[in-house]
Amino acid sequence: MADTRMIKVLIKGELDSSLLMGMLSNCDLKIESAPELTAVTEVSGDSGYGAVVASHLSESDASALSLFLKRCGEPPLILVGKGPEPDYGNTLHLDDGVGADELVDACRSMALAAPGASAAAGFDSRGLIGESEGIRRVLKVANKVATTDSTVLITGESGTGKELIARAIHRNSPRRNAPLVVINCGAIPGELLESELFGHEKGAFTGAHRARPGRFELADGGTIFLDEIGDMSPDLQVKLLRAIQEKCFERVGATRSIHVDIRIISATNKDLALAVEQKAFREDLYYRLNVIPVIMPPLRERRSDIPLLAEHFMDKLARRTGMEKKSFSPEAMDTMTAYDWPGNVRELENLVERFSVLVDGNIVDVEDLPDHFTAELSDGGAPQDAALFCDVRHGVNFQESVEQHQKSLILQALNESNWVKAKAAELLSMKRTTLVEKIKKMKIEEGSTSSAV
Ligand SMILES: Nc1ncnc2c1ncn2[C@@H]1O[C@H](COP(=O)(O)OP(=O)(O)OP(=O)(O)O)[C@@H](O)[C@H]1O
Ligand SMILES: [Mg+2]
Repeated sequence: MADTRMIKVLIKGELDSSLLMGMLSNCDLKIESAPELTAVTEVSGDSGYGAVVASHLSESDASALSLFLKRCGEPPLILVGKGPEPDYGNTLHLDDGVGADELVDACRSMALAAPGASAAAGFDSRGLIGESEGIRRVLKVANKVATTDSTVLITGESGTGKELIARAIHRNSPRRNAPLVVINCGAIPGELLESELFGHEKGAFTGAHRARPGRFELADGGTIFLDEIGDMSPDLQVKLLRAIQEKCFERVGATRSIHVDIRIISATNKDLALAVEQKAFREDLYYRLNVIPVIMPPLRERRSDIPLLAEHFMDKLARRTGMEKKSFSPEAMDTMTAYDWPGNVRELENLVERFSVLVDGNIVDVEDLPDHFTAELSDGGAPQDAALFCDVRHGVNFQESVEQHQKSLILQALNESNWVKAKAAELLSMKRTTLVEKIKKMKIEEGSTSSAV
């Protein structure tokens, strides 16, 4: 199911209104353009604004706007370009040269973060789509940690958005105007990684024709993001530990120590605690890195985000290619929502791109999905949490959903036990007679599916 909610975005200012409307037109936000401030402030008592976009305010505009925002439920304000600032806390600043993608993402994430999301209020989660409990929990921690210098370890399966959240933490930190330097510890061969991290002096090794600063030096004043930290060799783990503890290190081939002021965020899709147990990762380094853990939940544990993300990627592609936006049939969206997404958000993003290129017409239907999407659901082995998933945002029939779930469990147990009812009853911790009664009542036969209650 696509997200049918509309978000009102009010545009105020001399920023070329038609240009902004063009940027925002091909997305699912409902836009109200208000070129004059009076047109804004006269809309009294309306608290339905998801976000307000404004630019090039005069001093008097700024104070009138802040009064207006306070009066209408304190929606987030997105301020584009330089100019006087309204006295208003929930404000995100964007540069004059902001692109369409960035602006739409900002409107959406600020607006979506707003309802009941006080935990992450004011946190600029641009580009990070999701309203599930899982994402809200992550944003809450990220929001709290962003203002500190604490070391953060982000864990989660591949494609869950670890880099995205690392960037958001830096963007919301007091170090935001200094660099965020990213290094993928898994992609650089061990012998080169040390000089990449700490730099080298001229002649330090064959091929070192010039002295070169490392990423730690380049990140001075900012943040270093050590991606795939679980792949770092034991030798380098020792050097990294020292650099973190003492906040100083030497370039390869140098004797002089260099001091830097950096914040460290690392990420891995490995189970680092297990790697510590198996002696593949140093315990002392693990504790140094894991001061604030941020755990990115896999997509299958936040299924309500799947429709939002699918729509978001479709929007983005439509804006980028200028082609008409495709939508999803309800069956296609239901199937995608029940699928397990082992490659997480990245897999979803790539699939949506495939749809936008290969699907004829403007509707993505269930037949357009790869075979394994439907196979997973029809072989009786649907993942349990998929069976449990129910999108309540548009209302559900409670009794019917509970029965459907019961039927799904009974079918799984029967399939698992080759329709030997005594065995199935055992799997369900239920009396055989109760099971037989339910099978009869629900008209379950071999070949039934759980959706046909
Ligand atoms: N919540 C989200 N909203 C929008 N896009 C997302 C979200 N999470 C992830 N993505 C997108 O999915 C892709 C993968 O995200 P990212 O690179 O941050 O994942 P990762 O956890 O670092 O993956 P890996 O472990 O493979 O490095 C990126 O293109 C990112 O923009
Ligand atoms: Mg990554």
